[in-house]
Amino acid sequence: MKQSALRATSDKTSAHFDQHDWASAYCNVDQELKNVPLTTIKGSIPKELFGNLYRNGPGKLERNGQWVHHPFDGDGMIVSICFNNGDVTLSNQFIRTEAWEEEEKAGKFIYRGVFGTQKPGGPIANAFDLRLKNIANTNVIKLGDQLLALWEAAGPHALNPSTLETIGLSNLNGVLKKGESFSAHPRFDPGHHDRPRMVTFGVKTGPKSTIRLMEFATEGVAAGQLISDRKDNFDGFAFLHDFAITPNWALFLQNAIDFNPLPFILGQKGAAQCLKSNPKDQAKFLLIPRDCGAYAGQAPRIFNAPKGFVFHHLNASEKDEEIIIESIYYKDFPSIKPNEDFRKINFDSIPEGILKRCHISFSSNQISITNLSKQCCEFAMVNPLYQGLKANYSWMAVAERAEGNGPLQSIKKLNLNTLEECFWSASPRGFVSEPIMIPNPTSKSEDEGWVITLVWNGARRATDLVILNASDLSEQAILEFPIAIPYGLHGNWVSSNPPKQ
Ligand SMILES: [Fe+2]
Repeated sequence: MKQSALRATSDKTSAHFDQHDWASAYCNVDQELKNVPLTTIKGSIPKELFGNLYRNGPGKLERNGQWVHHPFDGDGMIVSICFNNGDVTLSNQFIRTEAWEEEEKAGKFIYRGVFGTQKPGGPIANAFDLRLKNIANTNVIKLGDQLLALWEAAGPHALNPSTLETIGLSNLNGVLKKGESFSAHPRFDPGHHDRPRMVTFGVKTGPKSTIRLMEFATEGVAAGQLISDRKDNFDGFAFLHDFAITPNWALFLQNAIDFNPLPFILGQKGAAQCLKSNPKDQAKFLLIPRDCGAYAGQAPRIFNAPKGFVFHHLNASEKDEEIIIESIYYKDFPSIKPNEDFRKINFDSIPEGILKRCHISFSSNQISITNLSKQCCEFAMVNPLYQGLKANYSWMAVAERAEGNGPLQSIKKLNLNTLEECFWSASPRGFVSEPIMIPNPTSKSEDEGWVITLVWNGARRATDLVILNASDLSEQAILEFPIAIPYGLHGNWVSSNPPKQ
């Protein structure tokens, strides 16, 4: 992409992109780099940034000429971008999961993917093969002294945070049983109860579902240790990708969704392709009291939730007798059907994500919902210090169009009180990923800091790193990667201490 293609704009009327540019990001990563210095092509690196931006996402999308059916089935690869006194280096490495090693050796897919990737040989070769391939591709977090690559249907893979080398599947010092699920969406409580914690969950689904809510220490000698653990049972199948926290509650949205596993068992579909929204069923908010909060030990509270399907929440907060939770709603569960090619997807045929705010009233037992925007969005976050509290700002990836679905091409800052918006756009040839907001350590202002995102540069057919000023989304710096990284999923900023003067 030429530099001029990266422009800041608030003009949301032109919805133009080239499908080949967008789809060209789906490629195999064929190099693993170690601490390669990045070239800054515009601006300068903020000197206050010390730490690593870790990102996870699919890095292997094709084997022996066969493409994955959905990019979510691609093997996880970690990207680590290290910021040190104005210098930036890049490392990337695949997670050596058991299945990755086996398939590398075989040179072809030998496992089915949850989102529809089949082993070669058609339904007969796939029928009754119900093994789960832990592809470790959804998120990466630092817990204690380990980096963990997360995939929600099974346990985390531990990695060396410096070298990214895979240590192996981890049971977190005996916390997890063999094969137990561990969410890819932990929430970091910035210190509502004296000290920061990581709050996360695992879910066991069936006609009844069990949520295990876990809290881990993240600081001091106890970092990485489990400090709180409870299990609650709920009626019905629960597909829970994300959740939200407040000081007193963990909030889940149990989508109204049916799971018919027969096509999966018979080798016709992946397990996630067997999920379907059920408009006759009622979605529920499941509120589980946190063990450190005012309702510790009490039973969960359940409220009816709005129609629609939710993968991701933005944030939640408490006010008097109300819980406020902001989430991204789809009209239905979006999936790639068995005969579709995900690279040729018609964006108009799949539902867009819309950010909505829901008030849950304890006193009236009622909920109310409002749209915060009509624009298609994903990957929304608040300043991490406002996790679980009323936040005034959020940052998210959005489609270029004001309404309707489209590829994510802009970063938007949204004022959550006034709904005022400002944008940075990578269109027409750029495509953004999850924005990570990093607060400025020297400022107390909520929107002071930086927003970092990887941008697929459709002209250069490679990845750029874009650093924006969080307050107005003006460009701070643009750096070029020497390699192409497919669209990723989630990541986190891990700060380190600047050297003493
Ligand atoms: Fe997610």
